[in-house]
Amino acid sequence: MTPDGDTAYEHEIPQFGLGVFLMSDNGECKSAVLNAFEAGYTHIDTARAYNNEHEVGEAVRESGVERESVFITTKLRRAHAVGYDETIEHCRKSLKLLDMDYIDLYLVHAPPENPEHRAPVWQAMEYCLEQGMVKSIGVSNYGPAHLEAMKGYAKYMPSVNQVEFNPWLQRPALKQATEAAGAKIMAYSPLARGHKVTDPKLEKIANELDCTPAQVAIKFCYDEGCITIPKSSRPERIIENIASLDVDISSHYEEIKALECNYVSGWDPTTEP
Ligand SMILES: NC(=O)c1ccc[n+]([C@@H]2O[C@H](COP(=O)([O-])OP(=O)(O)OC[C@H]3O[C@@H](n4cnc5c(N)ncnc54)[C@H](OP(=O)(O)O)[C@@H]3O)[C@@H](O)[C@H]2O)c1
Repeated sequence: MTPDGDTAYEHEIPQFGLGVFLMSDNGECKSAVLNAFEAGYTHIDTARAYNNEHEVGEAVRESGVERESVFITTKLRRAHAVGYDETIEHCRKSLKLLDMDYIDLYLVHAPPENPEHRAPVWQAMEYCLEQGMVKSIGVSNYGPAHLEAMKGYAKYMPSVNQVEFNPWLQRPALKQATEAAGAKIMAYSPLARGHKVTDPKLEKIANELDCTPAQVAIKFCYDEGCITIPKSSRPERIIENIASLDVDISSHYEEIKALECNYVSGWDPTTEP
């Protein structure tokens, strides 16, 4: 979407996917992606920083799924977000590692550390979009001020802002700023990196809903309208997590909302200058 609200480069993003962060053992990511396709996932979220783009590409080819029927997100590493040419060069490198003709969604992993790099990096993302190297572009870990600044230099606004979001970190102001910028929240760490799956309050809700605690957390993010990308390397959890989409949590919505405690499980660059 342009800053004026006009639509450009429409590309539908599946609202549920598999995150592949911390899958660094040889073959771990490939096997998880193969299991995910088997379980019905159509969206994989990787990044250069995860060092497993090549395994995502191998899994797509080995699975036999049509390239067009799966959606691959990857990200420009923060350390590489230092200029226009560097951004294009690293997009090409990701295409090479994935061994694909295009990336479905390419994200700036976090606001470039040097504020002066933010405009040229985004303009290079727009170049990648216009060249067809990527089908959609977005940001990750951008706060309201970073999004607001984009209006001054962006030809196309980001389609998503990937940030930590879960029942314990619901970020109403950031969600509102993201949506006002025309983007969707892509919820990373929907299980707070696994730190909260044994939360007794969550367990009680899950028991009453006859589902698992992880399913409650995942479905909450999904029902809040977020693109939701839980990570698991275990085949049974990969199945459990996608099965959350069939769980009706509406009767316990207020109780889940009340789990909010501003808990950041990972990092949070959204408030950086
Ligand atoms: N843009 C960013 O800065 C950023 C930052 C963090 C994450 N992400 C993305 O978001 C994805 C998800 O976030 P995340 O990996 O940080 O954390 P997460 O999805 O919240 O949690 C993953 C952890 O929970 C465990 N788990 C998964 N399913 C479970 C279940 N059903 N029951 C109990 N435990 C379960 C996993 O262990 P097992 O693998 O052993 O099942 C793993 O330890 C990442 O993989 C990555 O793609 C992006």
